[in-house]
Amino acid sequence: MVTGSSRGIGRAVVLRFASEGYAVAVTYRSKREQALETAERARRLGAPDVVVLRLDVSSPESLEEARRVLESRWPHLNVLVNNAGIIHFGGIDETSLEDWERVIRVNLTGVFLATKTFLPMLRRAPWASIVNLASIAGQTGNVVASAAYAASKAGVIGLTRRLAVELAPHGIRVNAVAPSFVETDMVREFIDTPEKRKRVEEMHPLRIIIQPEDVAEAVYFLATPASRAITGHVLSINAGRFTA
Ligand SMILES: NC(=O)c1ccc[n+]([C@@H]2O[C@H](COP(=O)([O-])OP(=O)(O)OC[C@H]3O[C@@H](n4cnc5c(N)ncnc54)[C@H](OP(=O)(O)O)[C@@H]3O)[C@@H](O)[C@H]2O)c1
Repeated sequence: MVTGSSRGIGRAVVLRFASEGYAVAVTYRSKREQALETAERARRLGAPDVVVLRLDVSSPESLEEARRVLESRWPHLNVLVNNAGIIHFGGIDETSLEDWERVIRVNLTGVFLATKTFLPMLRRAPWASIVNLASIAGQTGNVVASAAYAASKAGVIGLTRRLAVELAPHGIRVNAVAPSFVETDMVREFIDTPEKRKRVEEMHPLRIIIQPEDVAEAVYFLATPASRAITGHVLSINAGRFTA
């Protein structure tokens, strides 16, 4: 189950699992056509079952409805990838309380709510793990996104570390990935000309623009039993931009 998988990183994660023969759930908030395209590509790659769900991670009712659908179809859930998220820019003077609450509600509360909702299905699985999408913005303040976004992603890191310990006795691992700029709609405006791309490349010692597939590979590793001894870890995917 990958939240926010109509496009971008979520789509790449779904396709990575599909190519290994996993049944996958694709979710979208508004872009249904793109979710159907993700689903079609997942089927072609070999996913034995593909469920497409409309889901708003900030709504407990929407999450409950998604769980009802999945429970009627699958006996358990092995992997939850909390990927759905929104970006926000601007200094504190331009950030209204509504902006702040919207970003925290989707990016942080959404991870809490989705985890709580799908936990019973994860607990029933023979093996299970959760991977959360944090960000370099949760690790360092030296980023273009706003403080609201940075705070939401730092919160995701704290949630990941605490839940890793709390859920370990249930055999459920919880990890996160922290990417820098990834080539998706979310940051398109920073890389839509050759000059801008060059500027972003130059921010990263490896001189590359990170692709959704780069993140998907890391998520796949952290989610699956190949990483059975790893929990509470935040894996940086930042081409050397921040090396703590
Ligand atoms: N791109 C980057 O540079 C970057 C870097 C670090 C971390 N991240 C994180 O990686 C994750 C994915 O980002 P992305 O770049 O792939 O973004 P994206 O291309 O903008 O896609 C965002 C996805 O989240 C969904 N979504 C948005 N709000 C939602 C909500 N309230 N409930 C459920 N789904 C919702 C969208 O659905 P619709 O398509 O239906 O609108 C879409 O599927 C986010 O958590 C983001 O913060 C991204």
